[in-house]
Amino acid sequence: MNSQKVLVTGGAGYIGIHTVVELVRAGMEPIIVDDLSQSDVRLLAGAEKIVGKKLLFYKVNCLDHAHFRKVFEQHPDITDVIHFAAFKSVNESVQYPLRYYSNNIGSLIALVEMMKEFSVARLVFSSSCTVYGQPDKIPVTESEPFKEAESAYGATKQMCERILQDEVKSSTSLKVISLRYFNPIGAHPSGLIGELPISVPSNLVPFITQTAIGKREKLTVFGSDYNTPDGSCLRDFIHVVDLAEAHLKALQKIETLSAGYEAINLGSGVPVSVLDLIKTFIRITGVQLNYSIGPRRPGDVEKIYADPRKSFEMLHWKTRFTIESALEDAWNWEKKLRDATN
Ligand code: WQD
Repeated sequence: MNSQKVLVTGGAGYIGIHTVVELVRAGMEPIIVDDLSQSDVRLLAGAEKIVGKKLLFYKVNCLDHAHFRKVFEQHPDITDVIHFAAFKSVNESVQYPLRYYSNNIGSLIALVEMMKEFSVARLVFSSSCTVYGQPDKIPVTESEPFKEAESAYGATKQMCERILQDEVKSSTSLKVISLRYFNPIGAHPSGLIGELPISVPSNLVPFITQTAIGKREKLTVFGSDYNTPDGSCLRDFIHVVDLAEAHLKALQKIETLSAGYEAINLGSGVPVSVLDLIKTFIRITGVQLNYSIGPRRPGDVEKIYADPRKSFEMLHWKTRFTIESALEDAWNWEKKLRDATN
């Protein structure tokens, strides 16, 4: 029986590659489209080792319509799409907003146009909790109104969700599930795939592990004067493999969607502060981490964590991995990267 063909844009990226592994394990056939601007072929090789087979990969940027169209022409049996391809650093988007609007919104529009041209009607969209801005009510539910996005990144995700909602309204067949990620962390337990920041990491956990391994001089905690128990920001950290599994659940659910469009939070519902995460890393690894408190970072929200009820009710999904295991897997991956370069 032919396996379900799923186009995965940005599929060689951090979350994309972990999702590709889960799709293959579930018997699906991912077709990866990635321009490798934010990722690395090492992740494709690692994923192939995990699944024990070659992966279909096209080095294509979604904005390159000619080459992007060729992928659809070569695979007329694509039934679903997962769209990861986007830039995703909150603080980088504050510095380079135009790059974020052009890439993140342009890629989505190019994709939806291709899907219409080739009658592909099911899309799982990689959205983000940054669409909420600093929500009035936390834990935050999917019905929480969008506040002013604190960053261009968050604004692009708000706009992409609006574009998709309008497209669904105008379409007789398109079905979309937008998955609003909270803070993905960790790496695959095999140590064969993980986060590969292209340059200096902007995210907390890769900065922690790179400082711990000696690649970075020290970690700065951006602000300890927030209105939180220990003064540092609160976040909802989730293991990247938990996140990957949620995409599989969304693909399995999308056909039976009564509404054409659903947005679902992907979080644990458990708030953890930046300082708590650092202390947990030190406790479980025994590594002395060189960190100090610095000024707040523009674009950061003070506290945000999910009300995870809808993801359980609609996808029968909830987080399985602990924060400790995510940090252990992240640390294991960082050590594998060091050993591979030594
Ligand atoms: C987390 C906290 C920083 C680095 C992420 C993703 C984004 C979206 C939302 C999916 C903040 C603090 C960080 C450092 C620090 N997820 N920090 N020192 O900004 O919450 O956004 O989740 O779409 O794509 O990037 O994540 O890891 O950058 O920051 O103190 O060196 O850690 O201030 O409070 P963020 P982050």
